[in-house]
Amino acid sequence: MPDFWDLHYAQRVQLMKSSAIRDLLKLTEQPEVISFAGGLPAAEIFPVEKVASATQKVLQERGVQALQYGPSEGYRPLLELIAQTSSRDGLTITPENIFIVSGSQQGLDFVGRLLVNPGDLVLVESPTYMGALQAMAPYGADYITVPSDENGLRTDALEEMLALKPKLMYVLPNFQNPSGVTLSLERRKRLVELANRYGVPVVEDDPYSQLRFEGEPLPSLLTLDSQLRKSEGEPYRGNIIQLNTFSKVLTPGLRVAWIVASPELVRKLVQTKQGADLHTASLNQLIVHELLREGFIEQHIPLIRRTYGERRNIMLQAMEEHFPAGIRWTRPQGGMFLWVVLPEGLNSTELLREAVKENVAFVPGTPFHAQGGGENTLRLSFSNATPEQIREGIARLGRVFHKALAETAVKA
Ligand SMILES: Cc1ncc(COP(=O)(O)O)c(C=O)c1O
Repeated sequence: MPDFWDLHYAQRVQLMKSSAIRDLLKLTEQPEVISFAGGLPAAEIFPVEKVASATQKVLQERGVQALQYGPSEGYRPLLELIAQTSSRDGLTITPENIFIVSGSQQGLDFVGRLLVNPGDLVLVESPTYMGALQAMAPYGADYITVPSDENGLRTDALEEMLALKPKLMYVLPNFQNPSGVTLSLERRKRLVELANRYGVPVVEDDPYSQLRFEGEPLPSLLTLDSQLRKSEGEPYRGNIIQLNTFSKVLTPGLRVAWIVASPELVRKLVQTKQGADLHTASLNQLIVHELLREGFIEQHIPLIRRTYGERRNIMLQAMEEHFPAGIRWTRPQGGMFLWVVLPEGLNSTELLREAVKENVAFVPGTPFHAQGGGENTLRLSFSNATPEQIREGIARLGRVFHKALAETAVKA
């Protein structure tokens, strides 16, 4: 029987999906479970004392400002500092190009609010970040997908999808969540060129590029687009909307992130923000500004890179040792995740139930697939578990996979 609220929800609430997997993942929150499921940064390297001293300094020196309402676009000195460090390689970013949001997740919601009408096609990679799918679904986004491989989304399959005239395209070029793969330079150039030709806005979600522990950095889509437009010296005015965040390079608890986009779009975002939460917490923006200004974030990033690089190595080595033949996985050069492909016929959601009995957890791959599929895939996060937990957790997972394969062999 429908309850009181079922009779009162707006139509869009039907478009909000609560995933069955989320309920299953609740089981993984028990302390005895070694979880590779959540996308959590390593908590033991959070710079707690540094944040405490910056907070104290901010309150002493700019206390009233830190505790007062602030402008919707963000704290001006923070906008200026970000603009200054973003302007390079043919890209000119002014404070008018920048907009502070309460986490890049809010940026995804705002993009949906500003650009998506019910029934609009939104082009995403397969697999893609499920939080983006959740953010834009209530606005009526109809997702279409482009496949990806070890070099990121397949630009050879892109043109026919762009010909369907999607309203926007959502991409993660660096150490993609969930797959960990990085879009190659050649494909980046092709993507930017095609998006320009078809006049499609591109949301470049980039929380992980600074967490590269191997290989050379690649130019962002924003930079390549600016080079293509030869717009150096002019504030960026192209079709790329870039989402960035302090969540992975400092701490997610502060909820400070920023969008780089054309000043025209930023002005619309300001109106959206006024209706949502007025502005991102002033105190948090001032803390981030202080830590950025004094160079702390820059100094802290190498520790995060080192920690995640080590953990990825340990995870890869343990997988080599414990996983049965026939299972494939990615080898990310940065970020927090890797992606596992089980032999056809194995179902990772069913295997999660078995894994939880062994006190180990991962995220099954299906919710990352906007158009279904991926039953035999799963995501492992290597950022949050300690090296000992990684070794032990992968050994347990190896046992679960061996058992499942032995059972399917018996059935066959
Ligand atoms: C691809 C991607 N986009 C956005 C977010 C949200 O980040 P934030 O903490 O900035 O809201 C995440 C968080 O895991 C993510 O992986």
